[in-house]
Amino acid sequence: MTTVARPARVVAAARLRGRLELPADKSIGHRALIVAGLSEGPATISMRSPGRDVRSTVSCLRALGVTIAEERDGEVVDYRLSGGLTRDARLDCGNSGTTMRLLAGTVAALPLRVALDGDASLRRRPMERLATILRAMGAHMTTTDGHAPLLIEGRPPLRAVTHRLPVASAQLIGAGSLAALAAAGTTRIEAPGATRDHTERLLGYAGVPIRRSGTITTLDGPARPGPVSFAVPGDLSAAAAWLVAAALHPDAELTLVGVGLNPSRLGLVSLLRRMGADIVATESTSAGPEPVGEITVRGGTPLRAVRVSPAEADDLIDELPLLAIAMAACDEESELRGAGELRLKESDRIAAVAAGLHAIGAEVTELRDGWRVRRGKPRGATIATHGDHRIAIAFAVAALAGISGDVMLDDPECTAVSYPGFWNDLAATAVT
Ligand code: S3P
Repeated sequence: MTTVARPARVVAAARLRGRLELPADKSIGHRALIVAGLSEGPATISMRSPGRDVRSTVSCLRALGVTIAEERDGEVVDYRLSGGLTRDARLDCGNSGTTMRLLAGTVAALPLRVALDGDASLRRRPMERLATILRAMGAHMTTTDGHAPLLIEGRPPLRAVTHRLPVASAQLIGAGSLAALAAAGTTRIEAPGATRDHTERLLGYAGVPIRRSGTITTLDGPARPGPVSFAVPGDLSAAAAWLVAAALHPDAELTLVGVGLNPSRLGLVSLLRRMGADIVATESTSAGPEPVGEITVRGGTPLRAVRVSPAEADDLIDELPLLAIAMAACDEESELRGAGELRLKESDRIAAVAAGLHAIGAEVTELRDGWRVRRGKPRGATIATHGDHRIAIAFAVAALAGISGDVMLDDPECTAVSYPGFWNDLAATAVT
């Protein structure tokens, strides 16, 4: 992999041009690796530029006894999996909440004793909701005051339950569904809002009787997934950086190829279009259970302010920091409500976004569950990322698109959690 030095300072590009292949989708990648492990293989999951989070899932599966060989061809890594999850283990999930929650559900359904821990950020994230659904199914799970470290003693068979989640979370649906593989009967998990449906698509593709209908997921257990092999499509949440950068820039045309176009991930595309952005998405093929295609975005059109409702916020969750940058480019005030969950991500993203927007000169009001923002007097700033990849990428995009002055990030390297090639792609598309 060729790497460029991470810039000490991000400056506005004169133009943005290019075709980009993105890192493999993180949400799909975690699930593909876990399901391939549960199937006992042999299975091959191919992923372009896997980030640190996905590599946490690979190392946890290895600790649980799965054999995973890696073959690299340029940026693409083929993970060849064989053998199942057979060992008690202490797992380090790093910064990855998805690794921790999905693996907790997975091991609850297996006769294993597993401790799960992570970095300081992951130790601050809520795990009691996870414990509630897994305990309802009969799993033995302890938390540390509602947080990691966690201890799970899997004692299958579990009980099939009907469970209403307190928050719209695909990670919790995923954990409950993976646990439900060991429960006889129909498990029904209902979420209070929209979530991505990658677990349902993937388990269905692997032969498990699972359905998603609106916000309800139903699985008939017990079941065991068959081996699945496919190339994970590009990550829409990584594409989001370029969608926003190009939409905001006066002279931009970027095409993102091989990107996942699952409708449950396209909230940002709809919202940017509502703001007036010129975005064309074309589905051309599929990768395993997921639709794939190409997205072209052209800049040069001033965007309109927007109000994002709580129902829309669920769908957009990881894209909200970038959306805040788009909102800060508009003369009129935009508003986001109903996104309180953002405070519980890798950092408190409402506080981090509000502080960053204020630093770059936007007029911003921090709300309990969102923000109000409009363009102010753009200026350069040093941004506190709190080690959060989505905050770092959002404010790099603000500078690149000229929404702020020059931006310095206190931790540019944290982008590698989801997007190891981010600085290379920025250098490749920015004409200065
Ligand atoms: C994810 C679900 C979302 C998202 C996270 C990935 C997943 O989290 O923010 O980055 O892969 O299931 P929640 O389930 O907490 O909403």
